[in-house]
Amino acid sequence: MDEKRDNKMPGHVAIIMDGNGRWAKRKGLPRTLGHNAGVETLKEIVKYSDEIGIKILTVYAFSTENWNRPKEEVDYLIKYLLIEFLRKEIDELHKNNVTIKMLGDIEHIPSLTKNEINKAISLTRNNTGLKFNIALNYGGRGELVNALKDITKKVILGDINVESINEELISKHLYTAGDEDPDLIIRTGGEKRISNFLIWQSIYSELYFTDILWPDFKKECFADAISDYKNRSRRFGSLKDGGRIC
Ligand code: IPE
Ligand code: IPE
Ligand code: MG
Repeated sequence: MDEKRDNKMPGHVAIIMDGNGRWAKRKGLPRTLGHNAGVETLKEIVKYSDEIGIKILTVYAFSTENWNRPKEEVDYLIKYLLIEFLRKEIDELHKNNVTIKMLGDIEHIPSLTKNEINKAISLTRNNTGLKFNIALNYGGRGELVNALKDITKKVILGDINVESINEELISKHLYTAGDEDPDLIIRTGGEKRISNFLIWQSIYSELYFTDILWPDFKKECFADAISDYKNRSRRFGSLKDGGRIC
């Protein structure tokens, strides 16, 4: 895969896939059909990410706050669309050497969905290509709360001492453990906010906001976001253009 990459290619791209509902509304369609169209975009973007040599693609599929939507929409997303996506796409993803990982509280989602997710995770566990992270029932603050609980338990048990708590240790207790921080975070749909996404991991991510609604965000739009990223000057607080010294 590395021969496909140029050195300015972002290693980890994260996407807030927003705008499905408005896309449908503009066409006079129910919101569910906007979500269907969003899945088509997702398939194209996963394939393209792999082709251009991105190492990790993280997508925000359902936030902890999205439970506040009408039950029919929540059920459609969690109990139908995700299962359908995994069932239809898993063989192709596996064939393409993609690893699937979930970010979020997967314990507290309906068991049919959980089963499908667990199948996908175990099937693709040993793949070595694109790492495809799906953030589902995910919230950045909740992720930090969980990490804090896990670390506190270890301190109480005497497995670690308080002095050894540092940024690296906290990162290791997040859903994203082992993943480099996102280089680029894209949000489609026009809103300019983070909506509880990767709040710990995004401190030096480059942010790219576009008005394009997610179902219309085709690979050419993704390519535009990547070329915009390549022209950014990442300094990580230093003065040296290009960032880290080592
Ligand atoms: C993003 O699209 C998908 C999810 C949050 C699940 P929206 O459903 O938020 O679409 P808009 O923002 O209402 O257009
Ligand atoms: C963010 O979109 C969550 C996902 C894309 C899954 P929302 O549509 O839920 O965000 P807000 O409510 O506009 O901030
Ligand atoms: Mg939205």
